[in-house]
Amino acid sequence: MAIDAPQAISTAASAAWRQAHLLDVDDLTPPEFETVFRTADAMQEILSREIKRVPTLRGKTLATLFYEPSTRTRVSFELAAKALGADVVNLTASSSSVTKGESLIDTVRTLQALGVDAVAIRHPQAGAPYVAARHLHCAVINAGDGWHAHPTQALLDLYTVRQHRGGIRGLKVVIVGDILHSRVARSDLWGFSALGAHVVLCAPPTLLPRRFGEHEAWGLPPAEVEPRLERAIEDADVVMALRVQTERQHTAYVGNLRDYIRLYQISTARLRLARPNVLLMHPGPTNEGVELTAEVAQGAQSVIQEQAANGVAVRMALLYLLLAGEAAP
Ligand code: CP
Repeated sequence: MAIDAPQAISTAASAAWRQAHLLDVDDLTPPEFETVFRTADAMQEILSREIKRVPTLRGKTLATLFYEPSTRTRVSFELAAKALGADVVNLTASSSSVTKGESLIDTVRTLQALGVDAVAIRHPQAGAPYVAARHLHCAVINAGDGWHAHPTQALLDLYTVRQHRGGIRGLKVVIVGDILHSRVARSDLWGFSALGAHVVLCAPPTLLPRRFGEHEAWGLPPAEVEPRLERAIEDADVVMALRVQTERQHTAYVGNLRDYIRLYQISTARLRLARPNVLLMHPGPTNEGVELTAEVAQGAQSVIQEQAANGVAVRMALLYLLLAGEAAP
């Protein structure tokens, strides 16, 4: 007999989950990662239905509080909350009392006083969601803080690879591009390393944090640094291309974009150096023609659209894990 959605979800989520917030993936245990993935599998079943909605989080409210632009993360949080029957309020810095000088702390305290149960925060300052979490009883989810972390992106990246390869352990994962400014690179490095992948970082020296090779100094897990793309990509199972984040650059980190493209663009010829079943990934938004060609972005090895789609199931899983313990019956 088929089990219904709430039962399938609670069975998947019955393993260890001890987080009150999701601020990064650096303190998740392998069983907690697996709990997210199994719960996301149960959420995929709901999303495959004609009516993609269950009442599991009815009575709960998610606020999205975004101080930076977003398409994928904000929309998928909203779709995820609605699919679980929760209410959603969306705030941006420009449409809230932030424009009148209200601080982040006052804003999140006000949201809590208004009855919000979880806040997904995107903020240009690294650490902002951590500060919010210290002042709130409700769940805080980091939706991207400065250059620091983007844990829900890392979880959906891991989930997408797991769907294709069955697991993460032993895979060679190459992260290519603007690692210096990338919160995705940092969270992916934590996540892929925690689950047993071999991570290779490939970037020009100007787009790597200084002394990045000395990971212990940064408190980051070890990774190989290989600045030559052709060498880095050899036998890769996963190639994760990153956008050159011109909006975060105050000086010319990429002296000449043509040189960057010549040395670091992911092309069909370069992708042939990887394993035949390589997965080409990108957190988005992409700049086709810069960090990767349009041909590979839309090619058979690209799972970029799957990453975006998986964002809904993974964020449903996280909302469930953070909120369902106290959900209305
Ligand atoms: N990957 C990602 O965070 O995309 P958005 O900026 O569109 O949310």
